[in-house]
Amino acid sequence: MKKQLIESDIRYGAIQKAIRFVNYELIEGDVFEFGLYTGRSLALLQIAHEEYLKKSIHKINFSRDFIGFDSFKGMFKTNHPRWEDGSFSTNHSWHPTIKIGEAVTKGKVINFFKTLNLKPPIIIEGSFEKSVKEFLKKYSRKAAIIHIDCDTYENTKLILENIRGILQEGTVIMFDDWFNYKGNSKYGEARAFNEFKSVCKEFSFIDYFNYGTFCKAFISVIKNGLKAAGGL
Ligand SMILES: C[S@@+](CC[C@H](N)C(=O)[O-])C[C@H]1O[C@@H](n2cnc3c(N)ncnc32)[C@H](O)[C@@H]1O
Repeated sequence: MKKQLIESDIRYGAIQKAIRFVNYELIEGDVFEFGLYTGRSLALLQIAHEEYLKKSIHKINFSRDFIGFDSFKGMFKTNHPRWEDGSFSTNHSWHPTIKIGEAVTKGKVINFFKTLNLKPPIIIEGSFEKSVKEFLKKYSRKAAIIHIDCDTYENTKLILENIRGILQEGTVIMFDDWFNYKGNSKYGEARAFNEFKSVCKEFSFIDYFNYGTFCKAFISVIKNGLKAAGGL
């Protein structure tokens, strides 16, 4: 089942690359996903991590949690021509444990991880407006990878405004919908991130790679890092 899941998703190679990067660079902390849906991409992140732990000669001595946020109610207030209010509240394509057309729920996503023998993810259910701020206020660890897959400018802006405290040097931020809106960066995730970059005092963001059809990844770098390390 894992093999079929991996083969069905063009993002897996990119997911492996991001996991290898944070593991090789010993970037501690957890893997966050904003926009969990049926759990496919968070499961792939965990599968890539487990494969790394099994096969790599470069060991790590810390553990990671896999944390996913979703309302399970689908999209709303979107101006993208392909998404409607409620898109993604039911499963729309092949999935190992959730049938096409079935409602997506937290319980079904947990069952999906269990079926694949993966560690249960931490699932924060609710609208981002409420859940993201509330959860991150009490959270004291850092993020190794942040996967943003909630499509709209408004969602992405809200998430970026709340993740500053969990960023660290080396956090990889992956955007699933970077080149949507016909590649026009005045919309969607690209607009929200460009605005965030211009006000974020602590970090700059290095272009890492493009992947899949619409996706792009960045690495967070501390702005005064060289000074702190005795450099410039
Ligand atoms: C494109 S899907 C995520 C797909 C998933 N990452 C994958 O690759 O399998 C986007 C998800 O974001 C969730 N979402 C959108 N807006 C939200 C909001 N304001 N609060 C919480 N969840 C939201 C939807 O319910 C939907 O499940």
